[in-house]
Amino acid sequence: MSSKAFIRIGAHSHVHGLGLDEKGKAKFKAGGLVGQIKAREAAGLVVELIRQGKMAGRAVLLAGPPGTGKTAIAIAIARELGSDVPFVQLSGSEIYSTEVKKTEVLMRALRKAIGVRIREKRWVLEGEIAEFEPHFVPHPYNPYQKVVEKAKLTLRTKDQRVTYTIGPDVAEQMISRGVKKGMVIMIDKESARVSLLGISEESAKELGYDIGRIPKVPVPTGPVEKEREFVYTTTLDELDELFHKQSGGGGLMSFLFGATEERKEIDPEIRARVDSWVKDQVEKGRAEIIPGVLFLDEIHMLDIEAFSFLNRALESELAPIVIMASNRGKTKIRGTDIVSPHGMPLDLLDRLLIIPTHPYNADEVKEILKIRAGEEGVKLEDAALELLTKFGTEISLRYAVQLMAPAAERAQYFGRDTVTVEDVEAVRDRFASIEESIEHLAKWEEKFMK
Ligand SMILES: Nc1ncnc2c1ncn2[C@@H]1O[C@H](COP(=O)(O)OP(=O)(O)OP(=O)(O)O)[C@@H](O)[C@H]1O
Ligand SMILES: [Mg+2]
Repeated sequence: MSSKAFIRIGAHSHVHGLGLDEKGKAKFKAGGLVGQIKAREAAGLVVELIRQGKMAGRAVLLAGPPGTGKTAIAIAIARELGSDVPFVQLSGSEIYSTEVKKTEVLMRALRKAIGVRIREKRWVLEGEIAEFEPHFVPHPYNPYQKVVEKAKLTLRTKDQRVTYTIGPDVAEQMISRGVKKGMVIMIDKESARVSLLGISEESAKELGYDIGRIPKVPVPTGPVEKEREFVYTTTLDELDELFHKQSGGGGLMSFLFGATEERKEIDPEIRARVDSWVKDQVEKGRAEIIPGVLFLDEIHMLDIEAFSFLNRALESELAPIVIMASNRGKTKIRGTDIVSPHGMPLDLLDRLLIIPTHPYNADEVKEILKIRAGEEGVKLEDAALELLTKFGTEISLRYAVQLMAPAAERAQYFGRDTVTVEDVEAVRDRFASIEESIEHLAKWEEKFMK
């Protein structure tokens, strides 16, 4: 075993964005992407529409031969949208599970792709603890143990100082969390939850905490009791889960044992409740819906049932933007004998914006290989890069990319840090491309079967 940390380099780790200028024009090489100009510019327009909220319930299909950057462009769209917009990736084959219905897998993915930003105003008490005196009494059943009955708490801001008598629930929280004089806390008035905000700058010295995990914060200003706004972002899927748990879903056993077993299916009724709750919050100005993106790769793997479900889901009010990718031409729709473009039903195809992707020329392949070599930390001599470029155009881009790692490994065996033509030839000879593998199987089929 090597002592070096194991670093996984994903196939698309070099993709940072669509690489467009302010006018939406694609540069030949930017954002980690090379060429495929029209598709990147089209994707840029889609990003703009998503940002302006004009894409909800619509769908985009990236269509083109294998290795033409469909998945890479979808990832670039996610990077452009940033981390505030949910982006969920699902491969067609992932909907087939033995435990969960395929429509449930799709439904979950769709609802994960819809963010809900909730704003809430709450009354809180906030200040530095000037005094904290818990009052203990013997435990009613166990006289050897003492429990807190109430406490006197004085909180101060720069402008005010207020003393409260607090009940055992708040006092216990403070004791168990080790909250002391000089710390700044916030107490939610309704739920009585105590949050430790930090150590007041003025008391940090005194408490002897110069460094440590608890941050230093200034003593708050204004009144101790105030209304504060909280913003948190969640998704419809997370809310489903929450409502499911609150409704006692999971049965008595999981309630008794606090089992964290993952729920298999959510009752449609619960989802309807979540939807109406969210809509209500939006109407009251307390929440905002952020339609995100569901990326469905290898779309031909869906079957007719999944397609009709998807079609219906796109009609619903709370639908995300769906981006699909296909490398199939005319083929059968799974679960039927109907041949259709991309193996998709026509009524779904009809509502799509289609972005075609095209095979790369030698210059483009070379640039992509250079980027990948950089990403994987592989040094290639010029002639080795030329040869890989040749394989990239004649066989496939992905094959050429994949040969890089074993070629670098071989170079290392021979004590070189640069991959030579010889290394590339050697691995070319040892690893088959897909076509070669199919040919090989066909040739030996007879023998394999017997
Ligand atoms: N224009 C490009 N710029 C930079 N890298 C690219 C570009 N196109 C493809 N790649 C990279 O080449 C490899 C293959 O591309 P990708 O997986 O996106 O192809 P695909 O069209 O999704 O193929 P498939 O139909 O087989 O799924 C990936 O590592 C990808 O990041
Ligand atoms: Mg792909």
